[in-house]
Amino acid sequence: ATGLLGDALGRPLRDLRISVTDRCNFRCSYCMPKSIFDKDYPYLPHSALLSFEEITRIARQFVAHGVQKVRLTGGEPLLRKNIEILIEQLAALRTTEGRPLDITLTTNGSLLQRKARDLKAAGLRRVTVSLDGLDDAVFRAMNDVDFPVADVLRGIEAAREAGLGPVKINMVVKRGTNEHEILPMARHFKGTGAVLRFIEYMDVGATNGWRMDEVMPSAEVVQLIHRELPLVQLDPSAPGETAERWGYADGSGEIGVISSVTQAFCRDCNRARLSTEGKLYLCLFATQGHDLKPLVRGGASDAELASAIAGIWQGRDDRYSELRASMPPDQSAGGRRIEMSYIGG
Ligand code: GTP
Ligand code: 5AD
Ligand code: SF4
Ligand code: SF4
Repeated sequence: ATGLLGDALGRPLRDLRISVTDRCNFRCSYCMPKSIFDKDYPYLPHSALLSFEEITRIARQFVAHGVQKVRLTGGEPLLRKNIEILIEQLAALRTTEGRPLDITLTTNGSLLQRKARDLKAAGLRRVTVSLDGLDDAVFRAMNDVDFPVADVLRGIEAAREAGLGPVKINMVVKRGTNEHEILPMARHFKGTGAVLRFIEYMDVGATNGWRMDEVMPSAEVVQLIHRELPLVQLDPSAPGETAERWGYADGSGEIGVISSVTQAFCRDCNRARLSTEGKLYLCLFATQGHDLKPLVRGGASDAELASAIAGIWQGRDDRYSELRASMPPDQSAGGRRIEMSYIGG
């Protein structure tokens, strides 16, 4: 263990997000538009995926450097076969303070009803479910595979019953597509113990045709809800948090807004991302990763792996969202940005 590791901007390493598959059974247009993610799309071949043992070995070195929280992402992480086994392995790790990790997972909820109990038994603490609307027609159109909203709602319920809570619900707001679902979503989850978070539509990846005029600023979302359901701002629960927290004035729970476009939160960004094939990315908007697989498969010792990770983190100066504001729209990346479905949220 090396104690506190800081990057080039003094930011600690706290949160490791591990993508376990680049595949998904949904085709949300802001993430995996059907026209590009079709049957000919070059998904990673099975041989390129890190094994669970390889993932856990890498995660152990991150934990030794101060990581407290591990999030499994995809694509859709529940599509990865036997994901419970990976969760069991990660649950056995201990932070530098000797505590268990906060292990969570971001899912579209489609397989949650079936898997919630096993995930909990394996050591998962909680889940975040993506849900972009309650209206069945709107939801089916947004996932673009005609998946019914009732199944996701049952998945959320199953997660709650299994003790995977408080469940967080992520809604990506796209102006002109689902902004009329904001209030119904707020009303639906108010008082249920679930924490609904509204995410500004982001210019991640290179395929979603992002346009600023489809972004609904979080300030407008908060105002809209506040007019009907009064809100009060809450203090952050942890430094570097993505969401700004708002509580219902009547004490019936909280919501959050994630404003990476209108109010970047790079200053305290403590998140590292490991791709399905073992590349370490220092930012959601990165164009390049640092390949750890040659080390893992090439006989490097744990100490060598740990020191490689430390060196990469110490060189990190990424702060894309902060810089975007001052960039010409068509020049916002020097290379081709990685896709959200490849690196997870
Ligand atoms: P908890 O609140 O602890 O559950 O975790 P979290 O907020 O880090 O997790 P989550 O994965 O739910 O993040 C919510 C969404 O915020 C993601 O799906 C992304 O859309 C966005 N997001 C997360 N991390 C970053 C980040 O580092 N940069 C940017 N720009 N967006 C992020
Ligand atoms: N902008 C904002 N959020 C996005 N997500 C996927 N693509 C985008 C985007 N372009 C969200 C999903 C999910 C998480 C993995 O990231 O809805 O909640
Ligand atoms: Fe799948 Fe999530 Fe991307 Fe939608 S946002 S296509 S559910 S990975
Ligand atoms: Fe972190 Fe990059 Fe997101 Fe900024 S844009 S918060 S540096 S992941």
